[in-house]
Amino acid sequence: MDRLYIFDTTLRDGEQVPGCQLNTVEKIQVAKQLELLGVDVIEAGFPVSSPGDFNSVIEISRAVTWPTICALTRAVERDIDVAAEALQYAKRKRIHTGIGTSDSHIKYKFNSTREEIIERAVRAVKYARRYVDDVEFYAEDAGRTDNDYLARVVEAVIKAGATVVNIPDTTGYCLPQEYGEKIKWLCNHVAGIEHAVISTHCHNDLGMATANTVSGVMNGARQVEVTINGIGERAGNTSLEEVAMILKCHKGLEIETNINTTKIYPTSRMVSSLMNMPVQPNKAIVGKNAFAHSSGIHQDGVLKNVQTYEIIDPHDVGIDDNAIVLTARSGRAALKSRLTALGVKLEQEQLDKVYESFLKLADKKKDINDDDILLLAGADRTQNHRIKLDYLQVTSGVGVKAVASLGLNISGEKFEACASGNGPVDAAIKALKKIVNRTMTLKEFTIQAISKGSDDMGKVHMQVEYDHHTYYGFGANTDIIAASVEAYIDCINKFKL
Ligand code: KIV
Ligand code: ZN
Repeated sequence: MDRLYIFDTTLRDGEQVPGCQLNTVEKIQVAKQLELLGVDVIEAGFPVSSPGDFNSVIEISRAVTWPTICALTRAVERDIDVAAEALQYAKRKRIHTGIGTSDSHIKYKFNSTREEIIERAVRAVKYARRYVDDVEFYAEDAGRTDNDYLARVVEAVIKAGATVVNIPDTTGYCLPQEYGEKIKWLCNHVAGIEHAVISTHCHNDLGMATANTVSGVMNGARQVEVTINGIGERAGNTSLEEVAMILKCHKGLEIETNINTTKIYPTSRMVSSLMNMPVQPNKAIVGKNAFAHSSGIHQDGVLKNVQTYEIIDPHDVGIDDNAIVLTARSGRAALKSRLTALGVKLEQEQLDKVYESFLKLADKKKDINDDDILLLAGADRTQNHRIKLDYLQVTSGVGVKAVASLGLNISGEKFEACASGNGPVDAAIKALKKIVNRTMTLKEFTIQAISKGSDDMGKVHMQVEYDHHTYYGFGANTDIIAASVEAYIDCINKFKL
């Protein structure tokens, strides 16, 4: 068996999804879960990009023991200085530096030449090696880079001290065979390639990220860059759970990873819940329907022998079909056990608070599902908000104008307003705007009823534009009008004033 290294970039490339940013505490929670999952490398951020990213890399380095902590940079000395500083507490550290190598990047992004790009790449790697022994180089847009030139770049950076060479298909353009051949080309044409690990980094713009990654591995790559649930900019990155399960199912490939697959589902739920990013129901491995057989023929087959229609045992990915059903009569221990299964660990005091909200929700809803309790566990994120919703009353119906009255608590002071509108959400937001009197525009508004019953929680995502910036907000409530107002208030609380 050959060992494949899993490089998780959920907290860097994954976190670039608009509206899904995590605070440092949440990032630490995810990083610790990734450690339990068994990833080899955690890309913790791009330290020079913001003080928040810098701080997260510091705190993740402190919190995590086994995985290597990696920080991204451009091929710029100041970026590398800042990354090295952010990695100071990491037990194992890596600087990930690089530059665009495709002709379009060289011409339009850098207004440069192929030779000059090689010089800059070599200089950056050498500079990073002054700080750390483990330096990864990325050839951005390698997917569209001419193979001869790519081989020259890779050879030069390995000579300069790169320990890992990352071949990103940045735009998600390559076909699986083409990407595999690119990796094979490097294995066969780069002098010194045996001194470095080749890494894949595939984007999913054409839905081929996982196929390209596996093709890369079959042709010699021994590190894969992936994210939980395949999240990432645009159509996302290669999903960790898909690659891990492909290798587990296809033993003939003779490649193993350090992933404890039973932690896959809890990790997926944690990331989805903290990022407020739903997983599509038909998503491979972790989607709600991934193991649900609905047609009569399939159900009949599965009942006779599960292997007729199932290639993965759901227990292998941590899906516990005997999950305790939580109701108003469930105790703290049952709630704690379910939260643990979902990858959430709470201190006693936090657990008590979540349990209190759980009982309130259980009064309104018969069965509490996993989404509900993950929302409750994450609800304390709004506790420090300056503006909070005190109360909301709405009257609406057919043939009448909707009217809303609402109370806000702004830094301890109470405000009230009422307004009528074109529907209950419009009325409530108009009342809200009477109190928070700023020019702001609702740009996007998505309501998602979580799952089954009419008593279920509704999730609302909003984008509000204010002072030329776009802010993302989230609300969750059994009352969708209240969830909408909460989402709007969440946006306002993030305004840079
Ligand atoms: O997609 C890409 O090229 C990247 C690099 C910065 C590694 O994310
Ligand atoms: Zn990327």
